[in-house]
Amino acid sequence: MRTVVLGAPGQLGRDLCPRLAGEVVPLARADADLTDAARLRDKLNALRPDCVVNCAAYNFVDKAEAEPDAAFAVNAWAVRNLATACRDLGCTLVHFSTDYVFGLDTSRRTPLAETDPPGPVSVYGLSKLAGEYLVRATCPKHFVIRTCGLYGVWGSGGKGGNFVETMLRLAGQGKPLRVVDDQRCTPSFTADVADAAVALIRTAKYGLYHLTNAGDCSWFEFAREIFRIAGVTADLAPITSDQFGAPARRPAYSVLANDKAASVGNAPPRPWKEAIRAYLGQRPSR
Ligand SMILES: NC(=O)c1ccc[n+]([C@@H]2O[C@H](COP(=O)([O-])OP(=O)(O)OC[C@H]3O[C@@H](n4cnc5c(N)ncnc54)[C@H](OP(=O)(O)O)[C@@H]3O)[C@@H](O)[C@H]2O)c1
Repeated sequence: MRTVVLGAPGQLGRDLCPRLAGEVVPLARADADLTDAARLRDKLNALRPDCVVNCAAYNFVDKAEAEPDAAFAVNAWAVRNLATACRDLGCTLVHFSTDYVFGLDTSRRTPLAETDPPGPVSVYGLSKLAGEYLVRATCPKHFVIRTCGLYGVWGSGGKGGNFVETMLRLAGQGKPLRVVDDQRCTPSFTADVADAAVALIRTAKYGLYHLTNAGDCSWFEFAREIFRIAGVTADLAPITSDQFGAPARRPAYSVLANDKAASVGNAPPRPWKEAIRAYLGQRPSR
């Protein structure tokens, strides 16, 4: 069993690679740029993998509003080429997506299932949704895995850090922290998502799945819990998304139900507060 991992140096990729069974070939952008379709196909044809896991993505949610072509190039058109290459090789494609495919239904306040109609409110969300459909329509042996609010020991490659580290750094500098309290989701530890993804892939029950930690909170509540567990005093106060004024809209509620993964045998996900505790215990001291 040979598995190629694209975006291997990203925070999810780093946690996935050591958990995958058999031979793992981790690839960074320099080894295989997703947007270079011909080179990517040659690379995969040479490696002849049984499975390709795509952890690479254009993840700049706000920047995507101003550069939709860049977001679609990586998250949609490159994914279509990848899915075509995997189909032609007869291999499995595992592709990661996001809770940001939701948000258009502003009245929603109960966890979203895989059967709920998506409706993104940002260019990033739309580009990821296009990628999902392109995988599902192109490569029969696929897992499309939506996850949410990732933080991992390796930090988010392209974004330089993650929410937990940003909060702890700013609090350490004594900066006032104003964090949005009107967007609810499930912060998820990449180690837990990686464990769940590996278990899911083993089932060979292809399809669309939600994999996150359990429970939900606002980003303000997430920050408050980080400080509580870390024993840090911070000048933290809630604000609204309008007050924050980010260029891209985010869903007010994008909690993902994990029941479908449970129905194929996945263990129940760890509650988000326990996951923060585990993360804080594993992060290297800074
Ligand atoms: N982060 C979150 O909160 C979050 C939430 C929900 C879903 N997701 C999804 O989860 C997956 C993993 O996210 P992550 O947080 O682990 O991301 P990440 O840490 O930002 O890593 C993304 C990786 O993709 C690589 N990449 C970007 N463009 C590429 C290209 N054209 N060709 C090859 N590699 C390229 C990056 O390389 P460089 O470092 O060279 O740019 C980086 O190694 C993504 O599909 C993302 O959409 C993330």
